[in-house]
Amino acid sequence: MGRKTWDSIPPRFRPLKDRMNVVITREVPRGSWTMDPERTIAGSMDDALNAVGMTVLDRRAFVIGGAQIYKEALAKAETKRILLTRVLTDFECDTFFPIQLNEDGKAEGWERKTKEELDRWVGETVPEGVQEENGTKYVFEMWERTW
Ligand SMILES: NC(=O)c1ccc[n+]([C@@H]2O[C@H](COP(=O)([O-])OP(=O)(O)OC[C@H]3O[C@@H](n4cnc5c(N)ncnc54)[C@H](OP(=O)(O)O)[C@@H]3O)[C@@H](O)[C@H]2O)c1
Repeated sequence: MGRKTWDSIPPRFRPLKDRMNVVITREVPRGSWTMDPERTIAGSMDDALNAVGMTVLDRRAFVIGGAQIYKEALAKAETKRILLTRVLTDFECDTFFPIQLNEDGKAEGWERKTKEELDRWVGETVPEGVQEENGTKYVFEMWERTW
């Protein structure tokens, strides 16, 4: 995640549990990363991926934003899949996902996968259809690159 996303997580929820937390910032030199019990701090996306590759057994990395880091990740060929929570309620926003994934399941270079494919990939049964929490409606989706 980007440093601003880390800062946006309430301290009582940090680090996000049961996973390695990697924060990307220019505060450490590009080409390096440092680790402490709370989080790993990396100087670039590639440094973050190297840190994950050397530490996590299944070497699977999830990019959790924000917009600057999503943009960099989407430019990489290794980024093959998007796990999207589509919020169906309108909000005033100042930060946006960098590509358009349309509700009809089409997007340039990307396609929406089926619910069965989503379940298979995450290894559990994902709630199907429109979900609602505190009045906000949303749907879980998985998209994959078409190239
Ligand atoms: N809805 C969602 O799915 C979702 C997910 C995540 C975040 N968010 C929201 O998005 C907002 C943050 O997004 P954002 O785009 O403003 O910031 P961001 O991507 O979270 O973080 C930006 C910071 O990352 C570091 N960074 C970016 N590119 C870098 C690079 N190439 N090399 C090294 N460091 C780099 C810099 O940190 P330094 O300034 O420390 O150098 C930069 O200021 C928050 O409001 C958060 O709540 C939403």
